[in-house]
Amino acid sequence: MNLNIAVLAGDGIGPEVIKQSIKVLDAIAKKYGHIFQYKEAPVGAIAIDQTGNPLPEETLNLCLSSDAILFGAIGDPKYDNNPSAKIRPEQGLLALRKALGLFANIRPVKAYDTLLEKSPLKKEIIQDTDIIIYRELTGGIYFGEKKLNSLGTIASDLCEYSEEEIERITHLAFQAAQNRNKKLTLVDKANVLETSRLWRKIVTRISTEYTDVTLDFLFVDNAAMQMILNPKQFDVILTENMFGDIISDEASVIGGSIGLLASASVGDGKSLFEPIHGSFPQATGKGIANPIASILSAAMLLEHFGLHTESNCIQSAVEKSIALQICTPDLNPVGSYSTDAIGDFIEECITDDENSCFNNSNIEMGQSTII
Ligand code: IPM
Ligand code: MN
Repeated sequence: MNLNIAVLAGDGIGPEVIKQSIKVLDAIAKKYGHIFQYKEAPVGAIAIDQTGNPLPEETLNLCLSSDAILFGAIGDPKYDNNPSAKIRPEQGLLALRKALGLFANIRPVKAYDTLLEKSPLKKEIIQDTDIIIYRELTGGIYFGEKKLNSLGTIASDLCEYSEEEIERITHLAFQAAQNRNKKLTLVDKANVLETSRLWRKIVTRISTEYTDVTLDFLFVDNAAMQMILNPKQFDVILTENMFGDIISDEASVIGGSIGLLASASVGDGKSLFEPIHGSFPQATGKGIANPIASILSAAMLLEHFGLHTESNCIQSAVEKSIALQICTPDLNPVGSYSTDAIGDFIEECITDDENSCFNNSNIEMGQSTII
């Protein structure tokens, strides 16, 4: 397969982790006879520095003319600590999501057996957890009208959802549940918010088309507690934009590090693949950033194009690195490996996997393991 991939490395540790993903994708291309071509473009704080715009037109055009987008990270402390900044790096990512119609952000969360001890949560609580979060990505409070009065003393952010915005992601989440453990939990705040009541009404109506899936509801405050009290109860979680943002960072504690969580953003056309972690500026250039979330995002990219064997190959290599404790300091503070060393290990594992890491027993036709 020929794929033109737009690479938006972004800020902070973005470029370091993306470098490992490209290494890994190149190993896959060589092994399975694909041609992956990459074109880079700036986004975020680095794009503001270069052009004054966090999403320059050329960057958006590159994304529109590519088959898929590999995204690194976005954000810079000089903006975080300046609430009056008019232009912010994050606007680049939000504008990109909106412009590409990326309405569903898919975030798998699982507990790796060899990392059970790394989580602050008890092993018995997290063992065998396997959740997928469907976060709505182009609506809600993130995109509603923002106001600040002239004195700068009163501010508001509007949270708005339309029937259509809820319907399209709901269908994707139900379809995912059908291919998994057939349970869907809608996380909302329907006891307070009108938008949440609309979500409940529409999701309940759509559930009649998916009678093999059990639907239940949780208020977000309770869901936040259940996530660490009993995460195994969840299969597919469906939720609006901001609740999904918050609950997925919380869920990353189950895996032992946010540096492991990948995501796919899908919608009207092009898809984008990015780790859920941020730009981690304190770690930039130190070789300590965990590249696995980015590498697994590349695996999700392959899976999106139906390259299941290739995607599984990456996942097996990642699992091997984790099992052997070949990890960055977030997971292995003593005897830790560098960002580059992890990428090299996973690359080698893919290249000479004959009797080492690749185990294809878990590949079933059309059965996706991470999306
Ligand atoms: C994420 C991030 C973004 C979000 C930021 C960087 C705008 O936290 O992808 O989860 O809030 O969506
Ligand atoms: Mn987030």
